[in-house]
Amino acid sequence: MEKINGYAVIITGGASGMGAATAKRLSLLGAKVALLDLNKAAAEKMAQSIHGLAIECDVTQEESVKLALQQAEDKHGPARICINCAGIVHSRRMINKEGMMPLEEFRRVIDINVVGTFNVMRQVANRMITLETVGDSLERGVIVNTASVAAFEGQIGQTAYATSKGGIVGMILPAARELAQFGVRVMGIAPGLVDTPMFEKIPPEARDSLAAMVPFPKRLAKPDEFAMLVQQIVENPMLNGTVIRLDGALRMQPK
Ligand SMILES: NC(=O)c1ccc[n+]([C@@H]2O[C@H](COP(=O)([O-])OP(=O)(O)OC[C@H]3O[C@@H](n4cnc5c(N)ncnc54)[C@H](O)[C@@H]3O)[C@@H](O)[C@H]2O)c1
Repeated sequence: MEKINGYAVIITGGASGMGAATAKRLSLLGAKVALLDLNKAAAEKMAQSIHGLAIECDVTQEESVKLALQQAEDKHGPARICINCAGIVHSRRMINKEGMMPLEEFRRVIDINVVGTFNVMRQVANRMITLETVGDSLERGVIVNTASVAAFEGQIGQTAYATSKGGIVGMILPAARELAQFGVRVMGIAPGLVDTPMFEKIPPEARDSLAAMVPFPKRLAKPDEFAMLVQQIVENPMLNGTVIRLDGALRMQPK
């Protein structure tokens, strides 16, 4: 998209962390932002600060996403930009002292991270392909899905999380190929370690040793550095069908 100003944007997981930082950045650029999040209170607080719209939504549920997208469209008009940040982190060995990871636990991570991302992408794309094209590149829209470097270097205890993020990486190219005929781009971002409430859920000693692994800059990424990359992806029409790592040259070790 050659500009962001004036366009309607959907951000899932927009109440917190990278989704919230993206909401701030895109709204400062003049976008009309709808935050779709399970956490209604946090989404409302965030929406107030950016004059956006907070919509309670569970990305895993077909009807919940359908209603949320309609509500956003009624207020802001059809969205040409969708950023999928909703997700959960998970850490547990496949087999530990208590026994095997319950299958339900594995399924839940896949359901939120993979099925949720796919559910929003397909419903948003179904609306985008009906819009008029805009700009010299004849675009109709752009979708950005959030993976993780765990998709490539999952650590011990990350079988569920790494599988879910690998699922997101896997859907980017076929979705971009399928939607190319409609002028809709699909991109992925694979963040390394980002200073968000999600990262705070990791035990402090594990956090310190993870941060020490980042070659340069030797720190966690700031949520706005993710938002900066989202802005570039939205504005640059040649970015399509790939996943960009945002990790300060981090390559995760086994543990
Ligand atoms: N923080 C990191 O270091 C890091 C690194 C790599 C990838 N990621 C990924 O980036 C994305 C954003 O992470 P973050 O660190 O900003 O997390 P966060 O916990 O700050 O925000 C995630 C948001 O998603 C929402 N959410 C969770 N399940 C949902 C559901 N079913 N429906 C709707 N909303 C739901 C939560 O309410 C929350 O507001 C996630 O997909 C995460 O896996 C994070």
